[in-house]
Amino acid sequence: MNPHPTLRVIRDEHGALAAVLRSIGLLLSQSRRRELDSEFAMLRAMLFYIDEFPEQVHHTKETQLLFPALRARSAEAAEVLDRLDRDHERSEHAVRELEHELLGLEMMKDAADHADRRARFESHMQDYIAAYLEHIRVEEVEVLPLAERVLTHADWATLDAAFMKNRDPLTHRDADDAYRPLFKSILMSLPAPLGLGPAIDAIHDARSR
Ligand SMILES: [Fe+2]
Ligand SMILES: [Fe+2]
Repeated sequence: MNPHPTLRVIRDEHGALAAVLRSIGLLLSQSRRRELDSEFAMLRAMLFYIDEFPEQVHHTKETQLLFPALRARSAEAAEVLDRLDRDHERSEHAVRELEHELLGLEMMKDAADHADRRARFESHMQDYIAAYLEHIRVEEVEVLPLAERVLTHADWATLDAAFMKNRDPLTHRDADDAYRPLFKSILMSLPAPLGLGPAIDAIHDARSR
C-alpha cells in the first residue's frame, strides 16, 4: 500500500534535512585545522535553508496540523508530542543564534577571541545537529507509526492537502523559482556518501536541469 502523501513529504523533508546537517558537520570537521574562509558562503546558505524551510515550514506543519490531529485521536503520544513541540520552539531560536555566531566569525576574523568564537560555534553546531537528528528519529520511530494506526480517512485527507503545499525545495521538484539557484548550489555541494535517498534524487534532478 502506498504511504499517505503526508508521510512521504515528512520523510523526504527529513532525508534532505539530515543530509544538509551531516554535510555541515563534515565541512566543519574537514576544515578543523584551517580558516573557514572558503566555507562561509556554503555554511551561510545551509543555515539559511534550515531556518527558511525545516524550521518555518516543516515544523509549522507538524506543530499546527499533524500533532493536533494525533492528540485528538490518542492520548498515547501526548508526552512525546509536547517534547517535540518544545524542540520546534527551541530549535527555531537556536538556528538564528547559529546564523549570528557564523556571521560573527566571518566579520571578526582578526579578533583576539577568534579561536574561542570558532570553538563555541562548532560546539553549538554539533549540539544542534545531534539534537535535530534525534528529533527526526523520534518522529519517524514513534510519531509516524502512531499516525498510521490512529488517524482516520478524513484526517489524512485534510493533512494530505496541507502537506502537499509549501513543500521543501530540496525535495519538491517544482520548487519556487526564486529559491532554485540557492538550493541547487546546496545540493551540488552535498558529499556523495551523505546524499540520502531523496537528496540523491534531488541532486540528479537539479543536475539534469
Ligand atoms: Fe519536528
Ligand atoms: Fe519532522
